[in-house]
Amino acid sequence: MAQLIDGKHLSNQVLQDVAAEVERLRAEYDVVPTLAVVLVGEDPASQVYVRNKVKRAKEAGMGSIEHYLGTETTQSDLNQLIDRLNHDPEVHGILVQLPLPSHLNEEEVICAINPVKDVDGFHPLNVGALAAGHASLVPCTPQGCMIMLRQEHPELSGKHAVVVGRSNIVGKPMAALLLQANCTVTIAHSHTKDIESLCRDADIVIAAAGQKGLIDADWIKPGATVIDIGIHAIEVEGKRKLVGDVAFDSVADKAGAITPVPGGVGPMTIACLLLNTTRATRNQLA
Ligand code: GUN
Repeated sequence: MAQLIDGKHLSNQVLQDVAAEVERLRAEYDVVPTLAVVLVGEDPASQVYVRNKVKRAKEAGMGSIEHYLGTETTQSDLNQLIDRLNHDPEVHGILVQLPLPSHLNEEEVICAINPVKDVDGFHPLNVGALAAGHASLVPCTPQGCMIMLRQEHPELSGKHAVVVGRSNIVGKPMAALLLQANCTVTIAHSHTKDIESLCRDADIVIAAAGQKGLIDADWIKPGATVIDIGIHAIEVEGKRKLVGDVAFDSVADKAGAITPVPGGVGPMTIACLLLNTTRATRNQLA
């Protein structure tokens, strides 16, 4: 059975560091790092994510400002709100929960956020900084995955990492971080030929395809490290259950280390969001 990489435990360590930094910022500058969270529409999963982000921010001693907007919100309403948050000196981080309702343009919204308050690290300026290797605000999920990976591999140099998925939120920034850590990186996606044999060659598999149970034991080299970024709600015997992109039971018998779902990447994403919020705050005070 593979070693479980415990996201709950590791995220608590990050959150303790965050709380200590919040306290330092309060003592040094009399400032409370504050995160503004914007949710448009009624997507139930997004509602849960946003609620958890706000809860953890409060627990870490941060300020939080929540904007819940109706599904019918227009692009111009949303742009105006972002403009106000950009100019509010008491707001240090801005997060617009994705996905947005289909009539809204996500790219326009991301570009409207002041890059110094972009705690998701999605603005093109932050994406470019990451690609160039000098990022300050790195997307939260890949950042959390790197902390988990370093737990298993203090030295990542020379490892072959296969990232399955190429989204702007996860796959692409994940590949950039692995490359920066001197991994040999392969990005596989829906047009890739024979993903399975690519994965079988990998020391590290990052599952970010958004397809439940896609990756099973046949895809995994014995002893490899598997990070599961997928999250899907299913029903088993009338009970709701969360599963990832990895067929956990079979892969756990073959892998050297694996992240569970839930309790793996999810809590790390939130912890890194708050870490980014303290970084953004310090950057704005410097
Ligand atoms: N939706 C799913 N993941 C994320 C994330 O990391 N940030 C935002 N803003 N929306 C998301």
